[in-house]
Amino acid sequence: MSSETGETGTAFNLFDAEERVLASATELEHRLADADPGIRQGVAALTEAYSRSVREQRRLVKVSDRLQHQLATLNQELGRRRAEAEEALDRLKEAQETLVQAEKLASLGALVGGVAHEINTPVGIALSCASHLADATSDLQRLFAADDIGIDDFERFLATAADTSRLIMANCERAADLIGSFKQVAVDRTSSERRRFDLAGSIAETLTSLTPRLRQEGHKVEIVCPPGIDVDGYPGALSQILVNLAMNSVTHGYDPGQAGIVRITAALTEDDMVRLVYSDDGKGIPEEHRNRIFDPFFTTRRGSGGTGLGLHIVYNLATGPLQGSLSLDNLPAQAGTRFTLIFPRQIARAP
Ligand SMILES: Nc1ncnc2c1ncn2[C@@H]1O[C@H](COP(=O)(O)OP(=O)(O)OP(=O)(O)O)[C@@H](O)[C@H]1O
Ligand SMILES: [Mg+2]
Repeated sequence: MSSETGETGTAFNLFDAEERVLASATELEHRLADADPGIRQGVAALTEAYSRSVREQRRLVKVSDRLQHQLATLNQELGRRRAEAEEALDRLKEAQETLVQAEKLASLGALVGGVAHEINTPVGIALSCASHLADATSDLQRLFAADDIGIDDFERFLATAADTSRLIMANCERAADLIGSFKQVAVDRTSSERRRFDLAGSIAETLTSLTPRLRQEGHKVEIVCPPGIDVDGYPGALSQILVNLAMNSVTHGYDPGQAGIVRITAALTEDDMVRLVYSDDGKGIPEEHRNRIFDPFFTTRRGSGGTGLGLHIVYNLATGPLQGSLSLDNLPAQAGTRFTLIFPRQIARAP
């Protein structure tokens, strides 16, 4: 702004000087009234040329002023647009956070609904067995009180008691298992132990603990991980992820008697992240299931032991304590299953 005033000021000084020069030229022309016509014409032509150049100069100054003004307006407009864009970005970030929160709430809602639904079955069965047992017991008590108890009655009661108590126990165990899994869903990052550990060692250790189960089915395990990757994080969470993925391969990947290969490849990326690729060469996951496998309670094994919480827990561990990401790679049908887990070698300290 100040340079603009400065330049206009200079222009005005210049205009004054030019006016003065033009005035003295006119005066000179008067004084040369009696001079040689050739000289007078020459001076008149010079004055005319000078005043033309002055006019042209003033026109240019005006154009330059207009351009400067336009530039200032454009700059202002640019500033305004930039502020608008920044504001829009802030709003977008806010919206994104709200969405993430909403998503979390929605998945929590689905989880709570699912918990109620899942627990309902075993608890319901246990309850009806218990009431059946109670009925049978009071029948027996009545017969006993009437001194009318026969050996058949007693044997029937024993059979009922044995059956119902077996069912009650089995269903209570199922309910307890479910509660155990639900507890894992709410992964508490402070409860799992954080420490530095060797990546290759930790992977090998976890897989060794699974060897009996894998060997039983004839599966092979291949681990490719360079030694000396020193991770600062939660080895328990990583191990839980690998156990779940491996158990899934065994349970869902192969038909009974069919042996396969489970591969784990881990390496450090350029930006100090651990990239772990887990794969099996089993049946793979049908395309229509791929975007549902991380949902709580999605299972293709309902009724034969599957709760559908395994991969949900795995996802929560990967994105929670490990501060990373987990994705199912899109392989062609029947080409096995592959997950990619990426997490920082050194996880950020809680603020
Ligand atoms: N390696 C795999 N090969 C083929 N299908 C798989 C594999 N891993 C997961 N799936 C599919 O994804 C579904 C969800 O897996 P998830 O671990 O969440 O549940 P689940 O194993 O059925 O039950 P849970 O783990 O709670 O006992 C499985 O039911 C199965 O259909
Ligand atoms: Mg599972």
